[in-house]
Amino acid sequence: MRLKGRVALVSAMASGIGQAIAEVFATEGASIIGVDLDERGGQATKAHILGHGGRISFRRADVSSEAEVRETVDAGLKEFGKIDILANVVGIATEAPCHKMELSDWEKIVRVNLTSMFLTSKHVLPGMIERKDGSIVNMASVQALVGLAGYPHYAASKGGIISLTKQLAREYAAHGIRVNCIAPGTIETPLNVQILERAADPKTLRAAWVKMHPLGRLGTPRDVANGALYLASDESSWVTGQCLVIDGGMTSAAPV
Ligand SMILES: NC(=O)c1ccc[n+]([C@@H]2O[C@H](COP(=O)([O-])OP(=O)(O)OC[C@H]3O[C@@H](n4cnc5c(N)ncnc54)[C@H](O)[C@@H]3O)[C@@H](O)[C@H]2O)c1
Repeated sequence: MRLKGRVALVSAMASGIGQAIAEVFATEGASIIGVDLDERGGQATKAHILGHGGRISFRRADVSSEAEVRETVDAGLKEFGKIDILANVVGIATEAPCHKMELSDWEKIVRVNLTSMFLTSKHVLPGMIERKDGSIVNMASVQALVGLAGYPHYAASKGGIISLTKQLAREYAAHGIRVNCIAPGTIETPLNVQILERAADPKTLRAAWVKMHPLGRLGTPRDVANGALYLASDESSWVTGQCLVIDGGMTSAAPV
């Protein structure tokens, strides 16, 4: 068990990548403080983890609200006594080109995707500093590294996550705290499954997505969770300030 005795706060654990991370961390021995806006999905993840003998609390909260983040961290500390791992997985997206985007859409995406990671870090770091130990894993995206039409706010928020990761890694290394991020390619999560279902020609769209990834398939939430497990665990004890790209080779390849 690679996370035995650890406590991990995991955001966005009601669905997709966050759910896989919460489940893998719990299987590896961590107690989970789960947080998500989706009550039903959060309770389902909780039931799954409890059913497999894991430990988890779930709190419905908005991680872009400082008051709700503070309450979540305080409640988690009260229940489990510490937070060793912070997995900032939350992320949302809408689609529009820059010249047609409303300011409110831009601000919402940046607030939920990037500001939330500042807020959770702000409130979890004091305990980590006190114990001189901690690992923070932030979810970025390949869209921080390569351009994809229609998502300027999302891409900018993800680029900000990589910068925040490096900044915090430098600042808190002396306190024994490591901060890394992951940039996934296209992952088969409920979000993407729904986009495919809504498409005029789902088969063609799916084939186009697969073609972007040289390894010839879309990623699974588990592919990303395995990377998060590495970064959260002591196996990466000399790794900080890095962005682990998990993308089936997408960003290493020239378009064909
Ligand atoms: N799916 C992909 O292809 C892909 C690729 C690259 C990066 N990512 C990133 O991975 C992360 C997870 O993506 P996913 O596809 O699993 O998403 P998802 O839509 O399946 O899950 C997102 C979860 O976040 C929760 N959430 C949304 N806003 C919230 C808020 N303000 N407070 C608390 N919870 C909130 C939702 O309720 C949902 O359960 C995101 O950061 C996303 O940007 C995903």
